[in-house]
Amino acid sequence: MLQIQENVSLKPFNSFGIDVRAAYFVEIFDEQDLTDLFGLELAKNQELFIIGGGSNVLFTKDYDGMIIRMCIKGISSETNGADVLVTAGAGEVWNDFVNYCVDHNFGGVENLSLIPGTVGASPIQNIGAYGVELKDVFERCRAFDISTGEFKVFTFDDCHFGYRESVFKGELKGQYIITSVTFRLKTDANVNTSYGAIEAELQERGIEAPGIADVSAAVSHIRVSKLPDPSTIGNAGSFFKNPIIEKFEFADVIARHPDVVHYPTADNKIKLAAGWLIEQCGWKGKVVGKTGTWKNQALVLVNHGGASGTDVFDFSAQIIDSVKSTFGVTLEREVNIL
Ligand code: EPU
Repeated sequence: MLQIQENVSLKPFNSFGIDVRAAYFVEIFDEQDLTDLFGLELAKNQELFIIGGGSNVLFTKDYDGMIIRMCIKGISSETNGADVLVTAGAGEVWNDFVNYCVDHNFGGVENLSLIPGTVGASPIQNIGAYGVELKDVFERCRAFDISTGEFKVFTFDDCHFGYRESVFKGELKGQYIITSVTFRLKTDANVNTSYGAIEAELQERGIEAPGIADVSAAVSHIRVSKLPDPSTIGNAGSFFKNPIIEKFEFADVIARHPDVVHYPTADNKIKLAAGWLIEQCGWKGKVVGKTGTWKNQALVLVNHGGASGTDVFDFSAQIIDSVKSTFGVTLEREVNIL
């Protein structure tokens, strides 16, 4: 039964722990709830924002519209040749889904262990970590079209995935609500340990022929050691994207900073490690009022307690200015600013 609440604190629903209020707040437990909700004039005439885990958003003020919290659960699987297709409700916690796959020995998402957030958010920004991106295992997703009230299936090609990008952040922003995602996973998986830190961690554990569970455990350990736990220190993971620049721009950067951490991209550009750029500007571990950057990963902005969204936003602007004046590179925020 659909329950629309008014004037609700969003503090429990965003991983930065920012205390703002939403004019309207509603939780969606199945697809019928969406159909019912958008049958109401109230929903049609509102500014809307969908949250899953609330782990990729910074609220800078009270939200005048309606926050829709995606809570659709359920995980099922079917074999498909040598592969297995696993479908998860958009409201499943991402790491619960990863654990389900690890427990069933379905390979492909173990490198994405412990990423905060929900399954439904995963295609929107093509989440990625430790050498794997969501798009590598994406089969299709189902989504509700807000303007027509119809459900539509998006294939891989429909999604236009890029680095932390998809059609849902781009051309179709705000038009669809993802209700489930189907992943193509392997039952005879080859694990991907090429990302430096994983191999070192497995070696330390004395594991020579790692399986899916070993990789998941190693990645989880690395994440816990490097990244702050949002249940104690508010944060939204990487606050900025790693900037991608043209080769001629890079020539200028490396001439002045020969040790700049960088990677070539598939389309012949250069991706710079934003964490490194920020650290070089002296921000790593800095506490500025109630906010700051994380001591082990400068790309993560944190709420040390009681920070407002504006505090965090203003601090992020200082970092952008500083990186721009030192390196001539413009950092882009990765989190949604509301
Ligand atoms: N680095 C520094 N100083 C720092 C942080 C990083 O010098 O404070 C250097 C590292 O030494 C390394 C390089 O920068 O040489 C890259 O660092 P790291 O491996 O930690 O990865 P990242 O590029 O900073 C990305 C993702 C993370 C993901 C990690 C691991 C983005 C925006 N972030 O971070 O994703 O966990 O790779 O694969 O692409 C997220 O998106 O919220 C997120 C946490």
